[in-house]
Amino acid sequence: MSQWIHACACDDIDEEDLIRWDHNGQTFAIYNTEDGFFATDGLCTHEDQHLEDGLVTADVIECPLHQARFNIKTGKALSAPACEDLRTYPVKVENGQIFVQFS
Ligand code: FES
Repeated sequence: MSQWIHACACDDIDEEDLIRWDHNGQTFAIYNTEDGFFATDGLCTHEDQHLEDGLVTADVIECPLHQARFNIKTGKALSAPACEDLRTYPVKVENGQIFVQFS
């Protein structure tokens, strides 16, 4: 059964930026883009670098270690050296708070 878990407040994330969020022994990245809030796994699929210090441009996150790029909305790996997509998670906003859905 799926459940919505509270992650943070919308105000916790600057525009065109992300924060790290840890839950249940896993680490995630929560993004604030011009198209809304999104969530992916926090670790780059190349060498497990956390994406929290990465660069957000529109709907793309660039890994801070070797600059692989991923689509924030779909998780798709867009450039080398990453070839495996990021997992993404549904996000909803209620009363200025961000919730992430797990199934
Ligand atoms: S760890 Fe992200 S591109 Fe290498």
